[in-house]
Amino acid sequence: MLVLGIESSCDDTAAAVLEDNRILSNVLNCQDSVHAKFGGVVPELASRKHLQSIHPVVEKALASANVQLSDIHLIAATQGPGLIGSLLVGFSYAKALAHVRGIPLVGVDHMAGHILSVFLSEEKPSFPYLALIVSGGTSSIFLAEEFHRFRLLGRTRDDAAGEAFDKVAKLLGLTYPGGPQVAATAITGDPRYVRFPRAWLTEQSFDFSFSGLKTAVLNHVNQQKMTNAGLQLNDICASFQEAVVDVLVEKSLLAARTHNISTLVVGGGVSANKRLREVFTKRCQEEGIAFYAPAPQYCTDNAAMIAFAGFHKFSKYGAHARDEDVYSRSRLG
Ligand code: KG4
Repeated sequence: MLVLGIESSCDDTAAAVLEDNRILSNVLNCQDSVHAKFGGVVPELASRKHLQSIHPVVEKALASANVQLSDIHLIAATQGPGLIGSLLVGFSYAKALAHVRGIPLVGVDHMAGHILSVFLSEEKPSFPYLALIVSGGTSSIFLAEEFHRFRLLGRTRDDAAGEAFDKVAKLLGLTYPGGPQVAATAITGDPRYVRFPRAWLTEQSFDFSFSGLKTAVLNHVNQQKMTNAGLQLNDICASFQEAVVDVLVEKSLLAARTHNISTLVVGGGVSANKRLREVFTKRCQEEGIAFYAPAPQYCTDNAAMIAFAGFHKFSKYGAHARDEDVYSRSRLG
C-alpha cells in the first residue's frame, strides 16, 4: 500500500511516501530561518510559509519516490495537536487532494507519529512499551499497547522540555532553535558547575515541570551579571541540560517500574539530544530495560512518522469522515 504522509503542525512543512512501511521519500521544508530572529515560532508566519511550501513539498515527495498521485492508496495528514493555522494548511490541502482524487484520508494525532517513529529505524521494539515524547510542544509519557492504542501516564504542567531548552538558549544569547545550540555548548561544560533544581513533584507523579528550572537559570545569570562575573556559558548549559536529562530519565524509569514495562522508547525533537540518549542507555542497562531511540532525522517533526501512524490507524478504523476538523490539544490518552 502506498501512503502519502503530510505534516504541518508547527513550523516544518513535510511530506513523505511509504510503501508497506518502507520509506520511499521523506521531504522537509524547515522554517528555522524565518523564526530565528524572533527567538521562537511566530504562528502567523508559520501558516503563511506552509501555504507557500505545501504544494512543492508534496510534489517533491512524490517525485523522489518516483510515484504519481494516482498511485497513492491513502493520504495521512496531521490533524492535531499543534498551531491551528499551521494544521489548517496541511489538513485542508490533504482533504482537497483526497476529495478531488477519490483517495481515502486519515487524520493522525502528531503524538502517535512520535510514539511510533522508532519503527522507522532498524531496531524496532515490541509492545507494550513506554514512550517518552519530548519536543518543543510536549513532554509526555505514554504507555503504547498497540499500534493504535496509547495511554497517557504523565505530561508537562507548564513548559515542555524543548521549550525550556529554547527559552534558556534565548536568555543566554544563543540562536533559535535553542536545543541543538545548548547541547553543542554543553559538550565542553561541567554538568556539576551549578546544581539547578529538579522538579520531581509528588513521589508517584509522572508529570513534568520545567518552568522553575528556567527561572533558576535566569536567576543565576542575573546574579553573575550583578557581581560582574563572566558567564561560564558551557558550564551553565551543561548544568541545565543535566537537570533536564535527570528528570526525564528517572521519571520514565519510575513509570516503567510502576507499570511493570521492560521496554522504553523516546521520540520528539529533544530525543535527538546525545546526553539524554547516553544517560538513558546507561540507566536502562542498569535496570534491565530495553531502550530504543529513532534515528535523529525521525526525532524531529517529519511526515514519514505520520504516514506510518496513518497506515496503522486506517488498517484498524478505516478512512475519516469528510467533515473532520483540526485540534490544538492531543486526543491521545
Ligand atoms: O519534535 P520537534 O521537531 O517539534 C516541535 O516541537 O516543534 O522538536 C523541536 C524541539 C525544539 O524545542 C528544539 O530546541 C528541540 O526539539 N531539540 C533539541 C535538540 N534538537 C532539537 N533539544 C535538545 N537537544 C537537542 N539536540
